[in-house]
Parts: sequence; C-alpha cells; structure tokens
Amino acid sequence: MANSASGDSVIGRVMRIIDSFSEDRTVQTVSEIGRRARLPPSTAHRMIGELVANGILERDAEHRVRLGMRLWELALRGSTALKLRQAALPYMERVQSAIREHTQLAVLEQEEALCLEQLSDPNAGANATRITGRLPLHASSSGLVLLAHADARLRERVLAAPLRRVGPGTITDPSRLRRTLDEIRRVGRVVAPASIEEVSTGVAVPVRSAGAVIAALSVVLPRERPPGAAIEELVVAARGIERSLSTSTR
Ligand code: PHB
Repeated sequence: MANSASGDSVIGRVMRIIDSFSEDRTVQTVSEIGRRARLPPSTAHRMIGELVANGILERDAEHRVRLGMRLWELALRGSTALKLRQAALPYMERVQSAIREHTQLAVLEQEEALCLEQLSDPNAGANATRITGRLPLHASSSGLVLLAHADARLRERVLAAPLRRVGPGTITDPSRLRRTLDEIRRVGRVVAPASIEEVSTGVAVPVRSAGAVIAALSVVLPRERPPGAAIEELVVAARGIERSLSTSTR
C-alpha cells in the first residue's frame, strides 16, 4: 500500500479519517477531520473528496461531512452482528412487550460491551446507552456477563487494571469483581444495581452459539423494580435466540 513521505500508510490515514467520527461527533468540516486525523490540509481535502466520491463519506448542503450510507451497507453485508441481531430481534420484542423498559443486545468488542440493538418503551426509565454505544465491561450488566465468559487473559487484564467507578454501585474492588464473575458463570445471570447510574438496575444473561458465549441480552430497569420477571423473560429469550442461531443457515 502506497505510503506518504512520512511512511504513513493510505489505510492508516483512511482509518484515522473514519475514526475521527464518534457517537457525539457525527458531522465535521474538512478542516476538523484533517486536524483530528493528523493530516496536512491538502491531503485531508484530497482524501475526503475521494472518500465522498466513493460513498464512504457524504457531504451535506453546508459542505460538512458525515459517514456515508455506503459504509453502513458494506459494514452490514454478511456481518455476524447483523445475523445475531436478526436472530435476536423477535425474542427481544417479546421481552420488551412483557417488561416495557429497555431491552438490549451487546457483544464484546475491543474490551468493551458494544450495544448492537436496543428496544425502548417511550416511558422507560434512564438509560446511558444506545445502539453502537459502548459500556465498560466491569460496570454494566451485559459487560459483566461478557467478561465472566471472556478469555481468561482478558479477564485478568481487566481485573489488574484500575476499575473506574461509573455509578454508585460499580464494582471497583478486584476480589469482589472476581467473585461476581465466578457467580455469573455459576448462576447464568447478573443483577447489577446502580452500576452505571443510581436510578437503574441492569439485568443480563449470556447468549451462546456452539457452546461459546457470543452476546449478552439485558434489560435496564428502574432501580425500585424487582428483577425477577425480567430474569425469567431474558432466560427464555436467550434460549430462543440460541435455537434460532443453531438453525439459521445464512
Ligand atoms: C447495565 O447494563 O447495567 C446498564 C446499562 C445502561 C444503563 C444502566 C445499566 O443506563
């Protein structure tokens, strides 16, 4: 791949351009992108023009730039995330119609819980995440389930690093976190009150494919609501998703 005079690869520069967009920064000017992607203005201008011409980026009427539909289309084509989401949606809808808060599906992605899908009632309580949002593994119910079943090296790395307090109930003591993860593997669920914010409780269960945990299914409840009904719904839904994954061919 052709490199610039500084030895920077084209793919590296394209990735920095794409990475300069975030959940909270969805529209930028060419010069903002260039600055964040550490590119000289002329390079930023040329590369962004080419990416726009290919549909990877799009320009609005004010000439500001956002991620393009083509990127979305390519990312979803054949994606395992899409297959999982499609298998999960009918079962998530059942959970959602019974519990009427937030029902979420998350996978482990670069040491965080990445939310693939979320169904929310208009009158549901607080929720700090959204689709494509990320939550810390040690501080969310889905993250705890994913961490409990993650590769042992990842688990040890998380246990050895400082455990940031996100909400008043976040587990910040490594030995307590280790015991919680052992318990999750034993009982097949977690109830995490006030882990992200004081007013809510996350409840999550694992979803398996071919024996391995590939996702976490969770609901976020108002703190005062007992978790029993949500646990029952989640367990039934996870079994349904697992059956659907085991019979789907695409
Ligand atoms: C959780 O999964 O524990 C969770 C997620 C989002 C929230 C609260 C809790 O806003």
